[in-house]
Amino acid sequence: ARITLRQLLDHAAEYGYGVPAFNINNMEQGLAILEAAKTTDSPVIIQASRGARSYANDIMLSKMMEALELMYPRIPICIHQDHGNNVATCLSAIQSGFTSVMMDGSLKEDAKTPSDYGYNVAITHNVARLAHMVGVSVEGELGCLGSLETGEGEAEDGHGFTGKLERSQLLTDPEEAARFVADTGVDALAVAIGTSHGAYKFTRKPTGDVLAMDVIEKIHEKLPSTHIVMHGSSSVPREWQDVFNENGGEMRETYGVPVEEIVRGIRHGVRKINIDTDLRLAATAEMRRVAATSKSEFDPRKFLKPAMEAMSKVCRERFEAFGTAGRA
Ligand code: G3H
Ligand code: 13P
Ligand code: NA
Ligand code: ZN
Repeated sequence: ARITLRQLLDHAAEYGYGVPAFNINNMEQGLAILEAAKTTDSPVIIQASRGARSYANDIMLSKMMEALELMYPRIPICIHQDHGNNVATCLSAIQSGFTSVMMDGSLKEDAKTPSDYGYNVAITHNVARLAHMVGVSVEGELGCLGSLETGEGEAEDGHGFTGKLERSQLLTDPEEAARFVADTGVDALAVAIGTSHGAYKFTRKPTGDVLAMDVIEKIHEKLPSTHIVMHGSSSVPREWQDVFNENGGEMRETYGVPVEEIVRGIRHGVRKINIDTDLRLAATAEMRRVAATSKSEFDPRKFLKPAMEAMSKVCRERFEAFGTAGRA
């Protein structure tokens, strides 16, 4: 059944768990995520980026969501627009049946230039006002994703701002967060704590100076009833990097967000945890393994079936670790 982000995260807050939000672009991701949700009895957020919507087409995506609901009738599913860049993107997602939208006003409409507080509040408040009229939830973002190690925006990923950012832009200010939530009426708030999108987040296992979990604790103290969202929260597991690299891939050494840090965040108000890279990596590592070990194979299903199993395994692990399992 389709539920809103607000309904799901209110339940998560009441029972003290977190919900992974997995990105979806195609049928294989949808089947893998829902199979894991069913196996672990977990509610789930599936989110589509603007790139996913143009890759798969809105009609295909919305019918796929419908198919997943029919196939898994007992699983609560929130369908969320990831990183909406303007009002039109959010409204067309609502028209397609999404129950939640992110208005990412931390960047301007080009999704590349940091914005100012006034712009962010105005556009996010506008989306919240409209979405709430029709019972759809809204996520906003305050602060820019990027590296506290280098002071750079998301140079490598093709997302977000690429260039130097001030430390104050890379870390959400708790006082300003309280003001932002009051000014916009968002249901959930994405924060900047030193994570970035993609595989290359940290050059070593992150410690508090580059992954600012303490900022989450401060925001939660100021805003105890606001649902906090962590973006760029793939863990980029070493085992999957190894499968990828042992089968002809070239991924240089990298570290993601450790699962135990996310679990710590969940104890301090983190309710939605965005994960895309981990499923991409697991799926592609498995496809590389099949390609390297079965060189005469040309049936795509022989690649995609193991890829789905790999994605499902990652999903199951996150549902278990975040306490989502058993909450459907
Ligand atoms: O925003 C980041 C998500 O991982 C979506 O990525 O825009 O390449 O679909 P995408
Ligand atoms: P990752 O690239 O760490 O999976 O982050 C995904 C994300 O934040 C989508 O909005
Ligand atoms: Na989002
Ligand atoms: Zn994101």
